[in-house]
Amino acid sequence: LASIRVDVAGVAPGTQLTVLWQGKPVFIRARTEEEIAAAREVPLEELVDPQANNANLSNAESPATDENRALANPEGSDLPEGTWLVQMGVCTHLGCVPLGDSGDFGGWFCPCHGSHYDTSGRIRRGPAPRNLPVPVATFVDASTIQLG
Ligand code: FES
Repeated sequence: LASIRVDVAGVAPGTQLTVLWQGKPVFIRARTEEEIAAAREVPLEELVDPQANNANLSNAESPATDENRALANPEGSDLPEGTWLVQMGVCTHLGCVPLGDSGDFGGWFCPCHGSHYDTSGRIRRGPAPRNLPVPVATFVDASTIQLG
């Protein structure tokens, strides 16, 4: 599995970077405190897909808490824990690319058939069946994320 390294030094809270990895878009978002709080206050029983869908967890079927989807901060970061969310930019319905800062849950919206994802990339309304997949990702230094 080929890995790539992405410089995220310029990604300010409330913005995201889209990179291509293995031919697919990957969204790397630095979330605001409000986005993190919104994701963390959702009761799990409201989720359509109860599974974290995070390839970094030994059990990808772990519950879809925001803590189970966010990427841990690099050492020494002064950003709030949970700032970083890395996920495939591929709608789990039929594969369109969802739009950021959109939809009824303040996260992503897929315009193809109307799927709404929350600020944790979890599907909340519409035809998509699964949360946006979180790929293998890790900080290799203070401002570089390795995918794969
Ligand atoms: Fe996204 Fe159908 S491909 S809603």
